[in-house]
Amino acid sequence: MTHSTHRSFTPTARTPTPQAYPKGTAVINFQSVSKVYPDGTPAVQDLTIEIPTGRITVFVGPSGCGKTTSLRMINRMIEPTGGTVLIDGQDTRSIDAPMLRRGIGYVIQNAGLFPHRTVLDNIATVPVLQGKSRRSARAAAGDLLARVGLDAAMGNRYPAQLSGGQQQRVGVARALAADPPVMLMDEPFSAVDPVVRSQLQDEFIRLQSELGKTIVFVTHDIDEAVKLGDQIAVFAVGGRLAQFASPADVLSRPADDFVADFVGRDRGYRALSFVVSEDLPLHDEPTLTLGRPVPAGAGSAAEGIGDDHGQWLLVVDEKHQPRGWLDCLRVPEGHLVTPDDLVLGGSLAGPEASLRTALDAALSSPSGRGVAVDGETKVIGTVAARDVLDAIEKSRGATPDPAERIEPSDPLSKAGAAT
Ligand SMILES: Nc1ncnc2c1ncn2[C@@H]1O[C@H](COP(=O)(O)OP(=O)(O)OP(=O)(O)O)[C@@H](O)[C@H]1O
Ligand SMILES: [Mg+2]
Repeated sequence: MTHSTHRSFTPTARTPTPQAYPKGTAVINFQSVSKVYPDGTPAVQDLTIEIPTGRITVFVGPSGCGKTTSLRMINRMIEPTGGTVLIDGQDTRSIDAPMLRRGIGYVIQNAGLFPHRTVLDNIATVPVLQGKSRRSARAAAGDLLARVGLDAAMGNRYPAQLSGGQQQRVGVARALAADPPVMLMDEPFSAVDPVVRSQLQDEFIRLQSELGKTIVFVTHDIDEAVKLGDQIAVFAVGGRLAQFASPADVLSRPADDFVADFVGRDRGYRALSFVVSEDLPLHDEPTLTLGRPVPAGAGSAAEGIGDDHGQWLLVVDEKHQPRGWLDCLRVPEGHLVTPDDLVLGGSLAGPEASLRTALDAALSSPSGRGVAVDGETKVIGTVAARDVLDAIEKSRGATPDPAERIEPSDPLSKAGAAT
């Protein structure tokens, strides 16, 4: 069999938050803001940044670097000792603090729900405070439950009857209930396990693409910051702002040694998540359907695609979805292929895959050929690592200062395994 490169596979970076801002969103300005606590601790030093409307801005940095302090100065839970915080140009000191807080959603770690109120009543808290009838507030709360992906039946439970991840969703719904233009989120997903956390992050991105709130999100996890942030403020200990830039820039152009160190290993590789490639060649891949006999000469069937991986044959199910790779040197001709024969693993490159995902698909595949699938997870061909590297080389010409090196030692299989 032969391979061809006439079709093309177009990976894209994650869809950015839409530019069109719904009415009622707000821009937040820190102007030379400082906070020295009464005991003399300098928590935030001379912070000047503009937090744009309708975007997710992440404050990230090690413990004690002033992230929470900075966040709470926005809604005046903490008052600055120097400088000014403005929302839509208005000095927050001129706004009554409780009023200000009702217009700003606030989500914290462990959700901070009221334990003696049902889920619906928790969500309805602020609208009721604002004078809405309890009935209409609870009806709206029911809609919000669905929005954050919870079953309506959960509405009558108490927080203790929910899992940690469900409580966090209720926390987000409660913060959204008054439809505030601004949301402050302080490590909202830190207390749940990594799988639930990843789901919450994905749903949060989806929710924000619908809502377009001005969100300030605090985390100490750089990967979470890179995943969620439209831009990232990296804080250093002592409350110094070390860098304020897009995730791609923080990864590929760290401002100083502190940021480079904080961002950590493999940043060149991780920056590929943001690289868009126009034409990544898609190679035809011979496949064998589960339950069918291994054809004669299967070991050489795929030759010419991989360098020296000719013995690998991609096995699919009846729906043409990938099930795994067959090592043809280990099975006799005519053998009926079962799932037990297959080498699993290998991430998939879907239609929305970034260069990172495409490269990971190739690197994590036993054949060296990354399985590309369509929106229905059907095999449409394979991608080769060298083509991804070519695309990276091409993109270097297109961007001012791209990722400086490719270090594929830490392949993360985000896109799921070819099982
Ligand atoms: N009420 C307070 N009185 C004195 N010092 C405080 C007070 N609150 C916070 N600090 C100090 O201010 C600094 C910044 O604290 P902050 O809570 O803003 O850090 P953080 O970046 O949110 O840390 P973490 O990641 O651990 O939550 C720390 O050194 C902390 O000990
Ligand atoms: Mg904190």
